[in-house]
Amino acid sequence: MILDILKRDFGIEGSLDVVEGMNGFPKVVMTHVSGATSEIYLHGAHLTSWRATDGTELSFLSRAAKFEQGKPIRGGIPICFPQFSGQGPLPAHGFVRTMDWELCRTQLLDNGAVASEFQVTDTAETRAMWPHPFALGMRVVLAEDSVTLSLRVVNTGSQPLAFQIALHTYFGVADIGRTFVLGLEGTERVDTLREWVRETENRSRIGFSAETDSIYPNAPDSLRVEDEARGLSVAIEKKSMPDVVVWNPWIQKSRRMEDFGDDEYLRMVCVETGCIEAKQTLPPEGSWEGITRLTYGFI
Ligand code: BG6
Repeated sequence: MILDILKRDFGIEGSLDVVEGMNGFPKVVMTHVSGATSEIYLHGAHLTSWRATDGTELSFLSRAAKFEQGKPIRGGIPICFPQFSGQGPLPAHGFVRTMDWELCRTQLLDNGAVASEFQVTDTAETRAMWPHPFALGMRVVLAEDSVTLSLRVVNTGSQPLAFQIALHTYFGVADIGRTFVLGLEGTERVDTLREWVRETENRSRIGFSAETDSIYPNAPDSLRVEDEARGLSVAIEKKSMPDVVVWNPWIQKSRRMEDFGDDEYLRMVCVETGCIEAKQTLPPEGSWEGITRLTYGFI
């Protein structure tokens, strides 16, 4: 029923459909004329798939991911707001990744890109945890070789609004042993696994051979993930999202996560973008916007 209404109001013949996803959760499927696709669940406004024109999946979604009310989806691009990870009293990564977002607008742009916009606002439940009125919007634009995610926060209350926000992007890779993150050399690294020690990152190509959970405050706006085994690279360009997190749970933590396969750390890496180190503070009616664009290419 709700699906029929969403399809009727937002579907774009050949470019955008709203379908039943896992566990009956509504999912927006965007298809670019080139063949590139992306899928976004209204649950969390969570992108769960981004496929290149030849069908190659560039995102990572755990085979053990849960699609349940109140639970976040493991993989894809969770949106963290208004708290990052366990850095405060709220549920890990805040609460919008487990909320049902509203689909507000879809468009086929003149340049052929397909766009969809989602929004979530405070509810009695969020105000009970965090007493702040807010509106959070996300716009996703799918082009032939890129997907662009724009986040917008508006302070709809009468007090200042302070928040953290991030796109917790999981990249799918063929072999973590041949996966590298480029562009962070010379940036300060906060190693959350070693008592939050701060050191300068001296690697030009960051590889993986152990659990990794590092925050890079004020990182450069252009980075790259190289998936050497598949000969693929994804360029990350960001704006007004100063901080980067690089995460791979490796062996032990993978075993502890119930919604993640024990061996899946071999096929993913998270490179997250956001405002993490310093909270953003908005005056009443103030707004913030941040953008992350992912563009794939070949090595
Ligand atoms: C990362 C954090 O961003 O997210 C990690 O740096 C955390 O510490 C990871 O383990 C996954 O978080 P969650 O809540 O989705 O299991």
